[in-house]
Amino acid sequence: MSHTENKRKILVTSALPYANGPIHLGHMVEYIQTDIWARFQRLRGHTCIYVCADDAHGTPIMLRAQLEGIDPQELIDRMKAEHERDFADFHVAFDNFHSTHSEENRFFAEQIYLAAKAKGNIEVRTIKQAYDPEANMFLPDRFVKGECPKCGTADQYGDNCEACGATYSTTELKNPYSVVSGATPIEKDSEHYFFKVSDYADFLKEWVNSGAVQKEIANKMNEWLEGGLNDWDISRDAPYWGFKIPGTKDKYFYVWLDAPIGYIASFKNYCERTGVDFDAYWKDDSETELYHFIGKDIAYFHTLFWPAVLKAADFRLPTGVFCHGFLNVNGQKMSKSRGTFIQARAYLDHLPAEPLRYYYAAKLSNGVDDIDLNLEDFQQRINSDLVGKVVNIASRCAGFISKKFDGRLCDALPDEALYQQFIDSGESIADCYENRRYSKAMRDIMALADLANQYVDEKQPWVLIKDADRQQEVQTICTQGLNMFRALIAYLKPVVPELAEQSEAFLNAGELNWSSVATPLLDTEINRFKPLMTRIEKDRVDTMLEANKALLAEAAALNDRTDNNNETGDLEIDKDPISPVIEYDDFAKIDLRVVKIIKAEHVKGADKLLQLTLALDDNGDVQRNVFAGIKSAYEPADLEGKLTVMVANLAPRKMRFGVSEGMVLAAGPGGKELYILQPDDGAKPGMRVK
Ligand code: 2FM
Ligand code: ZN
Repeated sequence: MSHTENKRKILVTSALPYANGPIHLGHMVEYIQTDIWARFQRLRGHTCIYVCADDAHGTPIMLRAQLEGIDPQELIDRMKAEHERDFADFHVAFDNFHSTHSEENRFFAEQIYLAAKAKGNIEVRTIKQAYDPEANMFLPDRFVKGECPKCGTADQYGDNCEACGATYSTTELKNPYSVVSGATPIEKDSEHYFFKVSDYADFLKEWVNSGAVQKEIANKMNEWLEGGLNDWDISRDAPYWGFKIPGTKDKYFYVWLDAPIGYIASFKNYCERTGVDFDAYWKDDSETELYHFIGKDIAYFHTLFWPAVLKAADFRLPTGVFCHGFLNVNGQKMSKSRGTFIQARAYLDHLPAEPLRYYYAAKLSNGVDDIDLNLEDFQQRINSDLVGKVVNIASRCAGFISKKFDGRLCDALPDEALYQQFIDSGESIADCYENRRYSKAMRDIMALADLANQYVDEKQPWVLIKDADRQQEVQTICTQGLNMFRALIAYLKPVVPELAEQSEAFLNAGELNWSSVATPLLDTEINRFKPLMTRIEKDRVDTMLEANKALLAEAAALNDRTDNNNETGDLEIDKDPISPVIEYDDFAKIDLRVVKIIKAEHVKGADKLLQLTLALDDNGDVQRNVFAGIKSAYEPADLEGKLTVMVANLAPRKMRFGVSEGMVLAAGPGGKELYILQPDDGAKPGMRVK
């Protein structure tokens, strides 16, 4: 079907971010890629609805909330607000941003499951799984660690060894322990619910070669399909943060079952607000198109399970699933220790959004290769392209028009053939956007910007303006220049919407869309030019990186024991390298004191915490109440009477169990291996640690 002439009705989605951590610049590749595509479609006059949601279920979210001492609901509400703010500040314009912990999601998860069950696609089987006898919960693979059976390296996950690369099963780990409590896991039987993906093998074989996925992904899928499809375990045992499976007492839908259903649920929520016809987008595929933008790491879920699930429940199928690669920073994987795991907020606090949008666009293709954010190149590219080429044209021409011609453009272009080149490029640039070849689109637009600058360079209006007889010519040259600028802005508008809006205000002729370029702006008054974008200086990038390191350190202090608990393993966390260098003044702000643990108790309902009463002086007059995550390593009675070290000037933190007034220092990876710091004999409570 050719869509270019008709008004298309398109629904697009980006993958749902997990509600247990902040948005970082790696995430932003996808949201920016999708947002550019959606804005481009709208600029071409099509309907393009862009929905997303927070992925709010699963064990890591449950455990993180426990660690913070709050309800999961409170955690996901807070995360959602943070995520939405980050997206808005990056100009990612969702039509709806919802949550998978919503009534719509529950409704569709149940409906889809029951439909699959009615078709005989669900099978119940008993499996053996690692179980934590202390935390009373089954443990997903990522929650069991131990020594590598091959090389003996400690603290390896239950599937492979980071040190020697060996792969093995959880049961082969030596001295295994639960990441949750530190206890030794036992094996226990449990009934699980499986979706029989293999029932859809023939359908998937056809779908994969229908053009809905990129070549690289289709190849991978063919490999998977040839290897035979395993049934998909869609249930998890209580305790679990998610939706209960209908007809069961204590089984929950696995987070990955209800996550993509979040696309449907968010859209349903949007339809309820706006009156848009739900079925036209999710049941019937004759008039509408549906595209999912995702990272290559989750292709398996979106190109095998998801189409099969949709098919089982008689929903329409995606028109396309578009995969992109990962983000590297300065040529290497994003890294917490190098400080290149850049949080969206750290970036936004110090740098404007649009340079990053442009830089990503300049790097993105329709393939699955990783892209590199080289911070020096970033700075240079913005300064040379957006500031030096695009905005420069306007600033070179606008002053003459305002000062000498009362802001008026003349009534004809002096070089129509040149302007025609700008019009003629429109379709091929549109084609690049349509096919997600953004880097080519940016190159082509910058080639036009070069033409515009060459024109102004050659005509030298700043020389002509001194010649009383050639004033008129200056007006025509600048009219030509500003029209070329206007065309560039129209073509860049999906990438830099704020720059476009400011340019529209300056040009004073309403909103630009793709077809505006065909009609030049003539014989009309423009507004006074204000600088549209400033250069990015290196010190701002450096300051941003410093601020980011501080954010990372803060986050590490808060989640050092839940960080790795990502069931789907989408991020690789460094081991435990030395943190970035700090100045003495930063260190000196921390008031470390020797304290005596005068009381240690279990906390009802807390899996990791012990409540400590700490004395800051010899006779116990000055006391602090601290909740410490050391339950996996210590019995309360063994702690009482011991001296340790605390951060005495940490802002108090409200937790579900009470207020924690500081932190005690302990070393080790977690679980049983956690050791509180103890001073040598002679140290007294209250002494400052220097
Ligand atoms: O990998 C992730 O970050 C998941 N939260 C993506 C879910 S996408 C979809 F299926 F909802
Ligand atoms: Zn090993």
